[in-house]
Amino acid sequence: MTRERLDKILSNMGFGTRKEVKLLTKSGEVSVNGEIIKDSSKHIDLEKDVIEVCGEKLNYRKYIYLMMNKPSGVISATEDYYEKTVVDLLEDEYIIFNPAPVGRLDKDTEGLLILTNDGELNHMLLSPKRHVPKKYFARIDGKVTLDDVKKFKNGVTLDDGYKTLPSELKIIQSDEISEVEIIIYEGKYHQIKRMFETVGKKVVYLKRIEMGPLKLDDDLKLGEYRELTDDEVEMLKQAVKR
Ligand code: URA
Repeated sequence: MTRERLDKILSNMGFGTRKEVKLLTKSGEVSVNGEIIKDSSKHIDLEKDVIEVCGEKLNYRKYIYLMMNKPSGVISATEDYYEKTVVDLLEDEYIIFNPAPVGRLDKDTEGLLILTNDGELNHMLLSPKRHVPKKYFARIDGKVTLDDVKKFKNGVTLDDGYKTLPSELKIIQSDEISEVEIIIYEGKYHQIKRMFETVGKKVVYLKRIEMGPLKLDDDLKLGEYRELTDDEVEMLKQAVKR
């Protein structure tokens, strides 16, 4: 059972400071399970109790899980003094839950980014021990060859001497500008760009399309996001359990 003070919940949900929330509650505008509550220090069961403010039911959840189609030009951080972040793209009704991105996509990378305030799931999805697969679509300057596929399968040695785990490279089109899909099972800094550097090629466009069992929702335009369904959250949890 998860219990929390009423004033803390209301304040977290943007109804004002604790003091303002106390006044709101005193005025008789807040009810719990249909009963008007005037004492804002009352403890609430977050899983069962129904809170209403001015007759409107609150959709309070402990955890939120969002899927964003990250656009290029924003950084994967919660706040930054100079740069626009993925959290800056969220509406207040989500920001109040303090979601953080699960891992990082480069500023110029697009695609699937999960944001959540569930620290445990965030941590598990990123744990190097769990090898959660991440699938990307990429455009590469230069002809990608079967030799590259083989090299990636064996693991390549990056500029800092790190040997990557085997990855799956699929050629969609091999041309001046090639198109590929690639699945990696780890997440080193600029990993895919650095992997292609080892075979003398440059990534010119990168988009994440899958993370573990989760696929980027085609309906989300760049910069748009939605909450994960209960099934999607469950799938993610199952994927990191193994
Ligand atoms: N690999 C990269 O090089 N960049 C990303 O954003 C993700 C994976």
